[in-house]
Amino acid sequence: MPVDLERREGVAVLTLNNPDALNALSPAMLDDLDGLFDAIERQPEVRAVVVTGAGDRAFTAGADIRHMREATPLEAREYAKRGHAVTNRIESFPKPVIAAVNGYALGGGCELALACDIRLASEKARFGLPEVNLGIMPGWGGTQRMARATSPGFAKELIFTGRQVGADEAKAAGLVNHVHPHDELLDRALEMAEEIAAKPPWAIAAAKEVVNLALEGDLQGHLARELDSFALAFTTEDQREGMAAFFEKRSPRFHGR
Ligand code: COA
Repeated sequence: MPVDLERREGVAVLTLNNPDALNALSPAMLDDLDGLFDAIERQPEVRAVVVTGAGDRAFTAGADIRHMREATPLEAREYAKRGHAVTNRIESFPKPVIAAVNGYALGGGCELALACDIRLASEKARFGLPEVNLGIMPGWGGTQRMARATSPGFAKELIFTGRQVGADEAKAAGLVNHVHPHDELLDRALEMAEEIAAKPPWAIAAAKEVVNLALEGDLQGHLARELDSFALAFTTEDQREGMAAFFEKRSPRFHGR
């Protein structure tokens, strides 16, 4: 399979698996990812997702250049629509998605990481939007999400120059949350995913949805929605359990109700 799925302690680990092509995101890989997210959404016991790349060199080196090489504009648009479908799906997925960036995250690979909620990088990670080097521009959301995650100036520099940045520069720009030693990356990502998986899933999903609105235009409308979501959390057993556990000085047990 182009993407492997492994389940651990409430966490699904998705591994992009075509290391010979630096895990380039072929149409088959995008379809596979889409299908796996569908399956994971239906599994209530899975409460967080980690996405990573197989092998030692790449998270993913992006859209499959072999597939694009002879593409007509309409075919390129179709391919980008598939890229948009997967990145939008991850961004709006009702469970948190952590990118464990273990090497190159270029082009569509960087855009895939940008659609994830949290990015953790190994010291070997390399980020970039090198599409201009291929005579094209980012087409899987990078123009929007890079500017939002970092700053318009940083985004424009990467997009205009096609320059790669290492993990430390990516962290300084706000593109990644933490940098870990290469061999520890997956363990650190799993630790964070398991920590989040123990939280009340409804509250996490609602918070994700509302945080995503933070960068959209209508702040007052989104704040009103935040109030409603906050209030609705108080209809759940998990809210009661969480607050009871606080006063009883014990760990809460959340059941997603
Ligand atoms: N699509 C398809 N195949 C890709 C690929 C991509 N995005 N990125 C790498 N590959 C393939 C190479 O063609 C090569 O295949 P081969 O062994 O059959 O020749 C293999 O992966 C290894 O890549 P290679 O370029 O030989 O490794 P390198 O160490 O010299 O360079 C990179 C690594 C990441 C700098 C280089 O592969 C690269 O620039 N890739 C393209 C990145 C990109 O522009 N992505 C955006 C696409 S819109």
